[in-house]
Amino acid sequence: MVALIIMLSTSFLVSSCSILPGSNSAMKPPLALDRHAKLRGINLGNALEAPAPGNWGVTIKPTYFKAIRDAGFNHVRIPVRFSAHTSQTTPYSIEPNFFNMVDNIINQGLETGLTVILDLHHYDEIMVDPAGQREKFQAIWKQLANHYQDAPPTLYFELLNEPTQQLDSDTWNILVKDTVQLIRESNPERKILIGGTNFNSVESLNRLQLPSDKNLIATFHFYMPFEFTHQGADWVRGSCSWIGTTWEGTPEEKQAIVDQLDLAASWSAKSRIPIIMGEFGSIATADQTSRQKWTEFVTREAEKRNIGWLYWELCSEFKVYDCQLDTWDVSLLKTLIVK
Ligand code: BGC
Repeated sequence: MVALIIMLSTSFLVSSCSILPGSNSAMKPPLALDRHAKLRGINLGNALEAPAPGNWGVTIKPTYFKAIRDAGFNHVRIPVRFSAHTSQTTPYSIEPNFFNMVDNIINQGLETGLTVILDLHHYDEIMVDPAGQREKFQAIWKQLANHYQDAPPTLYFELLNEPTQQLDSDTWNILVKDTVQLIRESNPERKILIGGTNFNSVESLNRLQLPSDKNLIATFHFYMPFEFTHQGADWVRGSCSWIGTTWEGTPEEKQAIVDQLDLAASWSAKSRIPIIMGEFGSIATADQTSRQKWTEFVTREAEKRNIGWLYWELCSEFKVYDCQLDTWDVSLLKTLIVK
């Protein structure tokens, strides 16, 4: 995470060399390739990517999908820790009961009319030993690809959440190429989301090499300023001292966000690959007014640049919904979905 902060702070240098003419103008932001510009989504986080389902307090109920659709979202991302639910050795079969449960949840989303992004999440072992985990990673994708080959096109795959540590750009680019090829054997046209390294940072896009394939979508995650969005997060060391950090929307605060989104949009335009913001959000420990201001600003600025987005996440630490009461935090929801 420290690395992430360092990477974020270097972005201003890069973005001052914008690729598109006029990209520094407040009137004319650079535009991403607009194929997924209307994507409005939410992450069903802290459920199936917990070490065991339910461990982190969220159990996905069928009613959530309807609530999400009725609120105005059109996509859900479902993070799943498949790596913890396979046999120990080759062929790394996914546990049938777990697979069945995930399958039911995916189908509920699809039947509700939402596009579902199935995301391989918290595969911690591959971050420290990419070579040792390559066979298992590909075995998981082979099973998922075979299983879903006849699923509707509204099911998307996402190769891996937030590559980091030993999974550097060179290693990741090779794994991406080989795994896309593997998935294409059974799913020639399914949309596949792929982000760069360093926790799917914006800057890592410049090191991401995607195979030539018109059904790939690039993704990045956006939590800047990190001290604001992650204040008091129990998985981020030192974040207790950030509690009380506000986001006021000063010109400097806004410019820092604009620079990052410009960079993402310029990359998409230049590479001719659509891009989405697959995670962004702020922890509920932060004050509500700051959360609203930040969420509204990031969302509108992404939309201005044709960048579709998925909020992190439904009803846990970064929540916008109460999963016990089945009610929205309406003031925060309104900053996401403008009706
Ligand atoms: C991680 C979550 C975390 C979120 C915000 C996600 O990609 O998987 O555990 O809450 O990012 O840090």
